[in-house]
Amino acid sequence: MNEGSFVTPFAERFQMRVPVVQAPMAGGATTPALVAAVSNAGGLGFLAGAALAPEKIASEVAAIRALTDRPFGVNLFVLDPVSPDQATVRRALDAIDPLRADLGLPPGQPLARYAPDFRAQLEVLIELHVPVAGFTFGLLSAADVERLHASGSYVVGTATHVAEGIAWRDAGADAVVAQGAEAGAHRGTFIGAFEDALIGTMALVPQLVDATGLPVLARPAASWTVAASSRHSPSARKPR
Ligand SMILES: Cc1cc2nc3c(=O)[nH]c(=O)nc-3n(C[C@H](O)[C@H](O)[C@H](O)COP(=O)(O)O)c2cc1C
Repeated sequence: MNEGSFVTPFAERFQMRVPVVQAPMAGGATTPALVAAVSNAGGLGFLAGAALAPEKIASEVAAIRALTDRPFGVNLFVLDPVSPDQATVRRALDAIDPLRADLGLPPGQPLARYAPDFRAQLEVLIELHVPVAGFTFGLLSAADVERLHASGSYVVGTATHVAEGIAWRDAGADAVVAQGAEAGAHRGTFIGAFEDALIGTMALVPQLVDATGLPVLARPAASWTVAASSRHSPSARKPR
């Protein structure tokens, strides 16, 4: 596409030359080098912080900042602390062990710890003043969104249906990621059952634009595309 051929408030705010928000991918794919390269290329790079300890998030953000002076995001999972009892862990291992055996792997072992503490991760994001803070699997309180705003972050929540988008708007989010039914990876549904929230991206994006009035990022492909924007931007493109 021609540079400058799309204009949305979101793109302008983050000085984007191409309408691509790089997908955060927990598990190590979104290295600081990748995040910085995407931002330097005119998109918006996104670090997946969900699986990282707070101090690791801080060192990765420092590494990104050493590679770019452009805006970037950090994404977290909004999760309550988990501490499953031994019987639950045993059932899970028993269910998975046959698959491990098929692959020639030894039986699985209980983990020493599960997800990093979300509250501690959030505190690090606030301390680091990250340009964009993105969230999935849950909803932040208005107080937490306000704290992020006070630290200078733009806040993006994930919605799989309209009620979730409205919940994010009411909490004070600046934009919403529309996770359509076609999107790969886990479902971010946090209101109702995910089976009831399998709305195709092409339908979900305009629904969220109309219901929230916020910029909406479509999540139909390997990247988050800046697909639509609020009514303040009549020139916003619809997703292709
Ligand atoms: C390996 C992997 C890890 C992912 N981790 C995250 C994550 O940490 N946070 C998030 O919001 N989405 C995560 N996603 C979802 C992606 O950000 C993306 O929105 C999703 O894959 C939809 O695009 P696709 O259908 O082209 O895969 C992950 C996806 C993959 C494949």
